[in-house]
Amino acid sequence: MESFTFHNPTQIIFGKNQLSQLGAQMHKDGIQNCILIAGRGSIRKNGAYDQVIDSLEKAGIKYTEAWGVEANPRLALAREIIAQAKEFGAQAVLAVGGGSVLDTAKAVAAGLYLKDIWNAFIRKEMIKQALPLYTVLTLSGTGSEMNGNAVITNIDTSQKWSISSPFIYPRLSIIDPSFQSTLPFKQTANGAMDAISHILEFYFADEKPIVTLTINEALLRTITDMTDLLQKDPLDYNARANLAWSATLALNGLSGIGMKGGDWACHGIEHALSALHPEISHGEGLAAIFPAWIEYLSEKEPSRFLRWAKCIWNEESVSLAVRRFRSKLQSWGLATSLRDLSIKPDELDQILDMIMVTPTIGGVFKLNKEELRSLLMLAY
Ligand code: NZQ
Ligand code: ZN
Repeated sequence: MESFTFHNPTQIIFGKNQLSQLGAQMHKDGIQNCILIAGRGSIRKNGAYDQVIDSLEKAGIKYTEAWGVEANPRLALAREIIAQAKEFGAQAVLAVGGGSVLDTAKAVAAGLYLKDIWNAFIRKEMIKQALPLYTVLTLSGTGSEMNGNAVITNIDTSQKWSISSPFIYPRLSIIDPSFQSTLPFKQTANGAMDAISHILEFYFADEKPIVTLTINEALLRTITDMTDLLQKDPLDYNARANLAWSATLALNGLSGIGMKGGDWACHGIEHALSALHPEISHGEGLAAIFPAWIEYLSEKEPSRFLRWAKCIWNEESVSLAVRRFRSKLQSWGLATSLRDLSIKPDELDQILDMIMVTPTIGGVFKLNKEELRSLLMLAY
């Protein structure tokens, strides 16, 4: 087990009817006003918006609103919201929505202190401070509610890139799983696949701290079982709550403890797919890549994947486990090949160039361009 420091500064308030605490918590932190960032309207339908406004008003916190964050959020809107936040004199950023809204809010919180927020993504400027960030999560999957990462797309350059900084951890995140009962099942499944992927990115690494592996196996099983239950009954609160908390734990630092870092090639590949085709959701892009990645690498090094096959799928053979993984994702209605995602064969070269900005990709299994081409062909 590698030595580690674990520090996660985000306070979580979790459960039904907890959102009313938001305004009082912000007030306690000395916040007098904020910029509220939201997506394209789902928070009006699930009731989160009305409750947020009620709580802010009761606490006497002034606010301005910035709507319109899209799935696979765009740099241009983040820049506009930064200008709005400056003009308003925002003392805090409040994100209400899914991962795309939270990531935009992180870019805004940091961007207020930079010449241009995109400089942080391309490593031209360092994030040295950010406005305090509060979040109300309405879609579990990314883990953004309890981590210091944000992913934004620059449409002009077809780059979907990320930042990671201790300054953009939310100060407080409120997770009321009941807001998620309005999700179309496909979005629930996208979130589940994302959370599964966050665990798998660490799971096959060289170091095998038993405690981390065992926690990760419990998370993988819980996420899969809860998603099955929600497919039958979207109003099952216990399933929502267990899925939501598992997704938070899948990328808040816990799932990689005692390891040098995960692989993250599948995430790199997916980010290129959805940079080129923003209509592809992150979870579905991962569903098309991850089983193929395991299939491809297990031909070279089968022993690495055996524990996963046995513990998660109760199979002695990795290829049978991959088959069961894929059919589970298909049973949730996810596309499991690049063809199903409507990627055209003549786009593969462009996708390869977008991914290969370094000579190899992947922290654990280092793939060169030709190996990556073979993987993409297998995923096609
Ligand atoms: O636009 P609104 O109205 O908010 O609707 C959203 C959107 O259409 C809708 N939605 C959210 N909550 C809902 C709801 N619909 C009904 N009921 C609710 N309760 O769902 C749609 C998708 O939302 P989005 O925020 O895009 O999804 P998700 O949470 O999966 O976020 C995906 C983004 O996060 C990035 C992904 O790459 C992608 O850009 N990631 C962020 C990470 C992080 N910050 O740590 C790590 C991940 O690996 C990932 O890369
Ligand atoms: Zn992800």
